[in-house]
Amino acid sequence: MQDHEHLHSLNLRLNKNYGMKKNILLFFLLLASSTLPAQQTSLFTLRCEHLPHPIGIDAAQPRLQWEVKTAGKEQSHYRIMVDTDSAKLAKGSASNWNTGKIASAQTLVNYQGKKLGPFTRYYWKVEVWTDTGKSPVSSPITYFETGMMEGKNWQGAWISDGQDMHFKTAPYFRKSFQRSKKIRSARVYIAAAGLFELSLNGEKTGNHRLDPMYTRFDKRNLYVTFDVTQQLKQGNNSIGLILGNGWYNHQSTAVWNFHKAGWRARPSFLLNLRIQYADCSVETIATDTSWKTTTGPITFNSIYTAEHYDARLEQKGWNTPSFNDTHWRNAIPSKAPSTQITAQTLHPIRDVEEIPAISMNRINDSIAVFNLGRNISGVSSIRVKGPAGTIIRMKHGERLLPNGRVDLSNIDVHYRPKGNDDPFQTDIFILPGNGEAYFKPRFNYKGFQYVEVQSSQPVTLSKESLTGHFMHSDVPSIGHIRSSNPTLNKIWEATNNAYLSNLFGYPTDCPQREKNGWTGDAHIAVETGLYSYDAFTIYEKWMADHRDEQQPNGVLPSIIPTWGGWGYDWGNGPDWTSTIAIIPWNLYLFYGDAQPLRDSYPNMKKYVDYINEISPSGLTDWGLGDWVPVKSVSPKELTSSIYYFVDATILSETAKLLGNLNDHTKYETLAQKIRNAINTKYLDTAKGIYGSGLQTELSAPLCWGIVPDALRAKVAANLHQRVAADGYALDVGILGAKAILNALSENGYANTAYQLAARETYPSWGWWVKNGATTLYENWDINAKSDISLNHIMFGEIGAWLYKGPGGIKPDPAQPGFKNVLLQPHFVDGLESFEASHCGPYGEIVSSWKKEKNKIIYNVEIPFNSTAALRLPAGMNMKTTKGAAPQPNGTTFHLSAGTYTFELTSVSK
Ligand code: BGC
Repeated sequence: MQDHEHLHSLNLRLNKNYGMKKNILLFFLLLASSTLPAQQTSLFTLRCEHLPHPIGIDAAQPRLQWEVKTAGKEQSHYRIMVDTDSAKLAKGSASNWNTGKIASAQTLVNYQGKKLGPFTRYYWKVEVWTDTGKSPVSSPITYFETGMMEGKNWQGAWISDGQDMHFKTAPYFRKSFQRSKKIRSARVYIAAAGLFELSLNGEKTGNHRLDPMYTRFDKRNLYVTFDVTQQLKQGNNSIGLILGNGWYNHQSTAVWNFHKAGWRARPSFLLNLRIQYADCSVETIATDTSWKTTTGPITFNSIYTAEHYDARLEQKGWNTPSFNDTHWRNAIPSKAPSTQITAQTLHPIRDVEEIPAISMNRINDSIAVFNLGRNISGVSSIRVKGPAGTIIRMKHGERLLPNGRVDLSNIDVHYRPKGNDDPFQTDIFILPGNGEAYFKPRFNYKGFQYVEVQSSQPVTLSKESLTGHFMHSDVPSIGHIRSSNPTLNKIWEATNNAYLSNLFGYPTDCPQREKNGWTGDAHIAVETGLYSYDAFTIYEKWMADHRDEQQPNGVLPSIIPTWGGWGYDWGNGPDWTSTIAIIPWNLYLFYGDAQPLRDSYPNMKKYVDYINEISPSGLTDWGLGDWVPVKSVSPKELTSSIYYFVDATILSETAKLLGNLNDHTKYETLAQKIRNAINTKYLDTAKGIYGSGLQTELSAPLCWGIVPDALRAKVAANLHQRVAADGYALDVGILGAKAILNALSENGYANTAYQLAARETYPSWGWWVKNGATTLYENWDINAKSDISLNHIMFGEIGAWLYKGPGGIKPDPAQPGFKNVLLQPHFVDGLESFEASHCGPYGEIVSSWKKEKNKIIYNVEIPFNSTAALRLPAGMNMKTTKGAAPQPNGTTFHLSAGTYTFELTSVSK
């Protein structure tokens, strides 16, 4: 077992640090295989519910998935074996499930064995037969573990400290207990309305931040599971817990009125500590009124603004067993926030990167401004010494005023404070006075590059006093881009930074001004996210949030989650809330997993039916249109109707996939009707122009399949001419920015797309980067007076385009999850070399090229059990110098799994 466990965790680490160089990977591969019997020289990555060995899952039929690097081209058969006893499984027993040898290339399978019980660890492994005809390769043994499974398995009660929702100071809780028997394993299951930080015997449990993730609290609450076996001891033990407000008890006031949320109340929680003893007996310590509570140093906390901490109020050792809590009060039972408590099955938020300040600018003896050198989402921590009662204010912002102090004017515009006691993005730390003190907020995050530290009396500070912590959902990195153009590389990095800064258990628009789950921003960025990060679990959770928010008539709000009041009557047309169709569809394309489509199918249907009802002509102008344009404004009706068409199309495709042929035909007909209505009103067939021929007007129909086949070339030529006439400068808002690079490169104008993508003068991505951007902005104009957050992802499609355009790596809707890769690289003028890699469900796909004198060296890697259809730009000769020469099939070449090098020369040369 030991070896298997070791190998498995090795695989996981390898998978996580995906950027790792190939030779190191190979080294580990050999190392790993040397610990296994001779025939098992394969490297497996195993996942359950899209996570490496999750604990505390609720799925009745969890998805088991494997990826294997092994000899051969494809998987011919598999066998999955599941048993609660790992030793028996190692010997070949599979008493919970044994699929037998199944002839299939499938690598994602729902568990269908004996009914799963709660609180149980299930070990599993898979055997894979390949086309080499040899005996199967066997994966290491891994596991998944079930959690509560059903609501009735919870014990105890929700508790709070009994204060009302206006009370500012955060509650602390503790429970001490004695255990004499030997402990075999222990788990904490904890649901909270608000946020929590848990500790056992004085030590923080796990390394998550801001648990649990934000949901529509009155509909669904998430619980988190921790393995605390190592933290418990025989003898005296104590559980400590601090509750924060999060989105549940929003005390700050801003335009979205979260302080009016119907669900608002004093934070509460429900905890079950389930201990399994060596003698097999089980005991559960659950929340009840025997738990003790008091308040502590966190005098205010707001997810939106900041945290205030008075270190003089700390009670040393409050969460340790020896602490005397007789002066603490008893906890009060509280109402469950909703009737649904489900497992939080996703990559958690963490402090992912520590960022030292690059400079400290002393403004005077009580003010210093720290610069992190890059814009992030997260918090800063400070170490400082000073007299007791010294007030340290830490103001976080993205920009500086001419006098060097922090400027909040680009991000505090929607804040509506009721007084001066809740300053925006400003933590307040009061020193205890006994030596060096440390502060890092627990229940808040911000968007910032600069921190202005102001002290009520002079304190000694150095550059090292302050550290930035980049926080976000800690999704594994699975894609990489590298090119010969440093600006392009920086754009890609800035795109990733903006993407991650806006991923906190749901996708957000910006980490400072709003932190709202703006739907439009998210569907625009979904491909960018999925090429570079394994964010499946975040989106799957967010789609459940969608289902919680949908009104019976099908309407969805423009921000998700919301509280029931805001977002249902503004900004929620199809150009934004098409998330309901576009997100599950992309999860299907990138992962080959139809579950998100299945789950949201009824909701997509209701949404499309609603638009149909209010827009019988097939055209709708419900929406916001091409938001934050450079200058020209495209008709809203055109762009909204295009998204309506996209939804109807995805719905019809999903119906087909799910075997609902009536719906398939019905929505296909609807999609045709919408397309015709758009073309009748907007397309000048003689000229091949939509509307007045603006960049967005031409790009969006090309990109989303509106243009009749016969006119595609003409419309594309017009788009190219439009861009040329505009001086190769962008003239688009966010919907146009999503479409234009793809519309050009997919229709013969890859060089034009590249010119836009690599441009370094206004308006362009490169212009931001040249001006110091390390994240993407909300406005092309860096001096704009409004809509100028410096950390938005809504112009972020360029990240995905780098993979699709110059990289040419695209999922094939007919064989999703990169089972077949559509490989269509563009060797654009101006780039000498380009490398794109993406680790899909079958493994790493590489497409990289380098120009040499009069040839292009093109390297490709296609992982085991997948294939590729390679299509080269017209007019190229291809010579295979590594790998088996692929056979042409019309205009494409069929590639099986393997590593290839091609020498490409132009036919004319
Ligand atoms: C947000 C955007 C969002 C937009 C919609 C803004 O305030 O920051 O990113 O999509 O509103 O109107």
